Amino acid sequence: MEQKAKDPGKISRLGFYVCPECGNVVLSAGSPAVSCCSGQLEKCAAADCDEEHSVMVEKTDDEYSFSFSHPMDKDHYISFACLVSDDRYFFLKLYPEGGSQFRMPRFVRRGTLYLYCSRDGLFRVKIS
Ligand SMILES: [Fe+2]
Repeated sequence: MEQKAKDPGKISRLGFYVCPECGNVVLSAGSPAVSCCSGQLEKCAAADCDEEHSVMVEKTDDEYSFSFSHPMDKDHYISFACLVSDDRYFFLKLYPEGGSQFRMPRFVRRGTLYLYCSRDGLFRVKIS
């Protein structure tokens, strides 16, 4: 295996590797070689949230409450959400039966929320 340069581990560079066969998710702030049942996994490219993959946000002092209108069907649903800041992240696995809303601790005042759609891939939106 090839020796890599030292990884600074900057969390804001967090990448998501998702196996299309089993749905396994691997997170890394570096550039690892990740393989799963479908073979080598590529880092998911994130698109800006579109109309179908968008969220509404309500804030309290200590919590974000997100809701969305995206389908939550067995074959097409938001399978995880991850809020990323410069030095930390909060990862939440979502399930079709869990409905179209979720909450996260408001541990940062701004960051990037990533949503992964089981059919359409990774989306991102700035949260402040
Ligand atoms: Fe979708």
